[in-house]
Amino acid sequence: RAGTMLRTGIRLLALALCVSAGGDFDWTKNEKTSFYYGTFPTGFSWGVGSSAYQTEGAWNTDGKGMSIWDVFAHKKGKISSNETGDSSCEGYYKFKDDINLMKEMKLSHYRFSVSWPRILPSGLRSEHVNEKGIRYYSDLIDLLLDSKITPVVTLYHWDLPQVLQEKYGGWQNASMVGYFNEFANLCFERFGNRVKLWITFNNPWSISVEGYETGEHAPGLRTRGSGAYKAAHHIIKAHAKVWHTYDMKWRSKQKGLIGISLTADWGEPVDVSNQRDVEAAERYIHFYLGWFATPLFHGDYPAVMKEYIGRKSGQQGLGASRLPVFSPQEKSYVRGTVDFLGLGHYTTRYVTQKNYPSGFGDSYFADRDLAELVDPKWPDPGSEWLYSVPWGFRRLLNFVKAQYGNPMIYVTENGVSEKMLCTDLCDDWRMQYFREYINELLKAVRDGVNVKGYTAWSLLDGFEWDEGFSERFGLYFVDFRNKNKPRFPKASVQFYKRIISSNGFPSQREVESWKRKAVETCSSSNQLLAADPLIGHMEMVTEIVVPTVCTLCILLSAVFFMFLLRRRL
Ligand code: NOJ
Repeated sequence: RAGTMLRTGIRLLALALCVSAGGDFDWTKNEKTSFYYGTFPTGFSWGVGSSAYQTEGAWNTDGKGMSIWDVFAHKKGKISSNETGDSSCEGYYKFKDDINLMKEMKLSHYRFSVSWPRILPSGLRSEHVNEKGIRYYSDLIDLLLDSKITPVVTLYHWDLPQVLQEKYGGWQNASMVGYFNEFANLCFERFGNRVKLWITFNNPWSISVEGYETGEHAPGLRTRGSGAYKAAHHIIKAHAKVWHTYDMKWRSKQKGLIGISLTADWGEPVDVSNQRDVEAAERYIHFYLGWFATPLFHGDYPAVMKEYIGRKSGQQGLGASRLPVFSPQEKSYVRGTVDFLGLGHYTTRYVTQKNYPSGFGDSYFADRDLAELVDPKWPDPGSEWLYSVPWGFRRLLNFVKAQYGNPMIYVTENGVSEKMLCTDLCDDWRMQYFREYINELLKAVRDGVNVKGYTAWSLLDGFEWDEGFSERFGLYFVDFRNKNKPRFPKASVQFYKRIISSNGFPSQREVESWKRKAVETCSSSNQLLAADPLIGHMEMVTEIVVPTVCTLCILLSAVFFMFLLRRRL
């Protein structure tokens, strides 16, 4: 009993320390400083990303089962121009070409996802393992490793087996926790000897809100105000279960890390001197990132979510909060199950307080009591929602550092799309976006945020979910009208490649010192080279001069002898 009390005490103390660490984030300190010249720490990992449904195509090939996205995209009116990911970039057939593109860019890692129904067509391991699907991922991993590119593998990038949706209601149902664990376990068993960085879920916010609240994404449900919270609850538990399985069964042999990829916009108070705006911005971030990060780092939902959703559920006459509750055992089960945090980030919003009266109806959005605004001056080169606000990236990274005890972070997604068909391939705005966002990342690293790698989104133009192929995020342009789906580099390929080769944006001083070092190495190698003429000279002395002089001497002596003999005669 004393031991339990002590442990609880230590936990509470740790939690208090963590929460107070959250106070470290200074809302008033938004330094929109000028460009920072400098480089990333040695070993910083540069990569690109993709996901199965967005790029693979081969939707019904080699024994693959249906996913919720196959079914959703085939329904009329769900996707812009009724496009589907049936063939997409044909990545399933062209992965060797794609790895060559990555090799040329000198990338250190490639993030891709495993399609669950490609390897488990009905979702269940007990029913059938599709060996052809396994072979595809296995070959992909092998070739990446041969090419010195580290595979970063996402287990769930939204393509749930359709059978699990139909039979159980997908993430609404607690049984998904066990099924996902079986699928993950199969991946560890077959690929874990070669994969060291695992991401359980990609962007669970989107799975929950767009899949179960607004219905813009598969499975297209509109269970306003409750389904999203339920789905998220099961996803958090599923993540934790996989982390524990890996920890108990695989970690000691395979020595990998298990993370999750959370995507979040930054929320900046409209007026930082107004406490209500600051609180609204805090809520915005807690309802976005904190919804998942706080249970995984601290063991429970953010206090502000519990308070707001609880109060509003009461006002709506519900007996219990629409936000599910973690039991004490569950709290300790989910807490601390992140070896690294994957962070996806694209854009920022200004946030201010706005009351949603209870008669407004249940909704995730109404629960937050806030309004989002944008500055009309912010560039918006691509998707409607994507404004380029680089400083928000540094703010978000510093918030994570303060709130979650400076965890190890991999940026798992960052990039920008283009609205129009960029056929001239001169994507200046993308280069500008990368330059500025990566620069803010560099500033965050200098602030002490523990970031180990950056993943540009994405390698190729792909199927952009409900937007179909109309929004292109790729570094490579894909001609989707041509059935061979040829790839063409946009200008940003060379640009990103330069950032990679110089590991950031070297300052004039760094460049000078590199030059000096290069000159020194050159001059020492010049000395080596200079040794060659010297050797040549020696050789000339021994091989030409000496024999010539000797021959001349002999000749002269002979002439001299002859002369003497003549005189005697
Ligand atoms: C996040 C998603 O994970 C990815 O699939 C998508 O392409 C990007 N956002 C851009 O919208």
